[in-house]
Amino acid sequence: MIIVTGGAGFIGSNFVRQWLANESDGVVNLDKLSYAGNLQSLADVAGNPRYRFVHGDIGDRKLVDALLAEVKPRAIVNFAAESHVDRSIHGADEFIATNVVGTFHLLEATRGYVASLTPEARTSFRFLHVSTDEVYGSLNMDDPAFTEEHAYQPNSPYSASKAASDHLVRAHHHTYGLPVLTTNCSNNYGPYHFPEKLIPLMITNALAGKNLPVYGDGKNVRDWLYVEDHCHAIRLALAKGRLGETYNIGGRNERNNLEVVHAICDALDQLRPRSDGKSYREQIVFVTDRPGHDRRYAIDATKLENELGWRAQESFESGLRKTIQWYLDNAEWVSGVTSGAYRDWMTKQYGKVAA
Ligand code: NAD
Ligand code: DAU
Repeated sequence: MIIVTGGAGFIGSNFVRQWLANESDGVVNLDKLSYAGNLQSLADVAGNPRYRFVHGDIGDRKLVDALLAEVKPRAIVNFAAESHVDRSIHGADEFIATNVVGTFHLLEATRGYVASLTPEARTSFRFLHVSTDEVYGSLNMDDPAFTEEHAYQPNSPYSASKAASDHLVRAHHHTYGLPVLTTNCSNNYGPYHFPEKLIPLMITNALAGKNLPVYGDGKNVRDWLYVEDHCHAIRLALAKGRLGETYNIGGRNERNNLEVVHAICDALDQLRPRSDGKSYREQIVFVTDRPGHDRRYAIDATKLENELGWRAQESFESGLRKTIQWYLDNAEWVSGVTSGAYRDWMTKQYGKVAA
């Protein structure tokens, strides 16, 4: 068995599905079901005998100790986190609680568990921590992409909390010999993406006839990776990555936000034309910028490509097309996750502009 934390979220649910389809071990999914965790994202595997869901917090030592003793996993993949930058700007308490303190408790529980293993089981055990390119800070337009050697310069409460967790993971390796790996990935997109992040928000708002709120001048650049490619890279790192190493993951797909929103509008114009014959681009509005908004992220994935033989399978165009089609085909999932709490967030963040 392996244990995945945060498996009811966007990337975690895609990872669980991909794991069950490609690997022989079973998966235990430990998730506290925050607003971002939805069991509907795993409804298709809920009955799989190799899958089990456990409702709980990574920071709950008693629960995690007992789960590790019972399941005896050969690996833990830690996706659990608060992940939305804008929410961290409104209030970072939950980010510190889960991303920093929760990760610390999970590491400590894992340390105790690993100490209890036979030397053979200890040698093959892995703790893989899923992190972000945002820990490296912001690039200028002509800077080279982030390598694993880039200094940590987090700028938002979210990225600072992820940086802290990365440091704790590193320290547990160097001090206690915990067999860890860390991956730092760029912006993901794809199915089951909670519609508070740029791509799913733009698709769902466009279809609902709402405004498409672009922060600042729309020229901030992100490096987009289809979620299945990220999950594949994590499986490779788990299987073949060197202990204590970090691996950057990214698909060399830099786009500014306005380019992304235009691409979504143009695809929807073809796939689901507006009844008035106008383009979805008409719904774009420029809104107040995100405080401390990082200008550009870009990942240099050379290490992952050379050492582990990983290549992204989707281009931005093919991945975006699949994603948009998925949202068109899964309106029920969208209405299931956009509950009252979601509507409260939209009003808090966008007021009358796009809520
Ligand atoms: P998400 O917000 O969609 O999902 C997070 C999941 O973690 C949810 O299911 C939530 O219920 C669960 N969770 C939160 N706190 C928990 C706790 N204390 N105990 C147990 N479960 C808890 O996030 P995501 O976009 O799927 O991101 C997953 C991971 O990947 C995060 O660590 C994030 O920092 C990292 N990451 C995300 C991206 C991206 O573009 N989304 C890119 C790089 C790295
Ligand atoms: O780079 C990896 C990170 O990517 C992950 O670590 C985070 O968990 C994930 O949320 C994502 O962070 P971003 O802040 O880059 O993603 P978001 O979708 O929130 O925003 C993408 C860009 O779009 C960013 O420049 C802000 C802009 N944006 C976002 C929203 C929600 C808008 O212009 N309008 C919006 O309404």
